[in-house]
Amino acid sequence: MYPPWTSPTRAAQILADGGVVGIPTETVYGLAGNAFDPKALAKIFAAKERPFFDPLIVHIAKIETIELIAKDIPKAAWKLAEAYWPGPMTLVLPKQDCIPDLATSALSTVAIRFPNHKIAQEIISLTGVPLAAPSANLFQHVSPTTAEHVAEQLGNRIDGIVDGGPCFVGVESTIITFIEGKPVILRPGAITPEMIIKIAGSLTIKQSVSSPGKAMPAPGMMDKHYQPRVPLFYGAIPIDATPPPHTVRIAFGNTKSRIDATLNLSPTGNLTEATANLYAFMRSLDKEKYDLILVDPIPDEGVGIACNDRLRRASLKYFPSQN
Ligand code: TXA
Ligand code: MG
Repeated sequence: MYPPWTSPTRAAQILADGGVVGIPTETVYGLAGNAFDPKALAKIFAAKERPFFDPLIVHIAKIETIELIAKDIPKAAWKLAEAYWPGPMTLVLPKQDCIPDLATSALSTVAIRFPNHKIAQEIISLTGVPLAAPSANLFQHVSPTTAEHVAEQLGNRIDGIVDGGPCFVGVESTIITFIEGKPVILRPGAITPEMIIKIAGSLTIKQSVSSPGKAMPAPGMMDKHYQPRVPLFYGAIPIDATPPPHTVRIAFGNTKSRIDATLNLSPTGNLTEATANLYAFMRSLDKEKYDLILVDPIPDEGVGIACNDRLRRASLKYFPSQN
């Protein structure tokens, strides 16, 4: 059957048998497999065409499971888990030996998340093991926020897709590691710096680093992540620039521009609504007939920090002017 639509119960059976399934979470859809089964992990990398140096996030459905897969857990990590799990936050912690090297790209740490989505929780609980799940897209493409997005890119490569409706957060989780017990943000998300400081008392934010081909100390930070195929420019059009003929624009709020808005992330300027729409809008305009996708500036606050991080990485560095 194509696409391989699947129920949560059937998905759990497929996963227990070593298969890989697209599952909904509140952030983006994940491509799940048994985190303890290297063969299932290999299937995930193959389906996504993902290089082995980019490690996976392990998903759990109970806070206590953290101790099964991680050790030497800092106090700040426990506090953050109690405050924001289930939720859009991933904690990077020293790993237990039961986690295969394939899941962590042979790093000594493992990334763990307890998603705030009833269907994801049900699938993890029914399967009875933690599930490794990167975003369910081809490597370096925009993450999927609907089951249809998963079907379009991976439908004929995987064993099932569970449709849980559109993701209500819309950007990938905040990734937090710990240095000397203190939290460090490796990737911004809906759990904001303010929220982390409130619980942990301190915070460091790491700048994105790009080191293609190498196991990364701070993976998931590659510049080419999140790019649509149509060139995208993030920010206001420079005054002296002439946009190419087939330029489309994703507006935010009521920002004025020379190009009419094709879609509006949130006419009222609501950041939560804008974030939930962002990837679906980027995908819907990623069509060969367009020369350029413009995206209006989004305020760099709250979950807007995560949108800015992804859009800056998706953006051309110079405006492509038509002569
Ligand atoms: O919201 C999310 O986090 C989604 C949903 C499905 O949970 N998952 C997701 O996975 O965005 P993925 O694989 O697309 O991005 C996870 C990032 C990767 O880029 C990876 O490099 C990083 O997390 N990561 C995984 N393990 C790590 C580790 N031990 N240390 C540092 N970063 C790690
Ligand atoms: Mg991803």
